[in-house]
Amino acid sequence: MIAIHDLEIKNMIRMAMDARDRAYVPYSGFRVGACIKTHTGAYYLGCNIENASFGATNCAERTALFKAVYEGEREFEALAIVSDSSNYTVPCGICRQALSEFCEPDMPVICANNEGKYKVFTFGDMLPYSFKASDMRE
Ligand code: THU
Repeated sequence: MIAIHDLEIKNMIRMAMDARDRAYVPYSGFRVGACIKTHTGAYYLGCNIENASFGATNCAERTALFKAVYEGEREFEALAIVSDSSNYTVPCGICRQALSEFCEPDMPVICANNEGKYKVFTFGDMLPYSFKASDMRE
């Protein structure tokens, strides 16, 4: 796993909590915030953005990831996720696949709860055997 200091984990959780305040969740009421850190030390924040056509909803993790990629970022060092739940919030399957395009298996994924307690996984733990561009080669 890429090394990450406890203070930095807490810093990223705090930013993810700030991002959570921007969630647009008229349907589920379930607010999620994410903070993704690039290899150059920049942070991009995201919240979930729901839609009346539920399938068009965008998760917090993908909002953060897509904002970063739009800005030219393609290498990431860590991701933090938080919701209002007392459970540790983990990325959904669609977000794991979206992240796999840019994130290495040793990237730490910080899954926090509403009190700021957390568990750290590697991205590879979260999505082993991910489907990648190389899998399309003959
Ligand atoms: N959600 C996220 O933003 N991230 C996740 O990893 C899990 C689910 C959002 C989508 C939807 O707005 C709400 O949580 C309920 O599924």
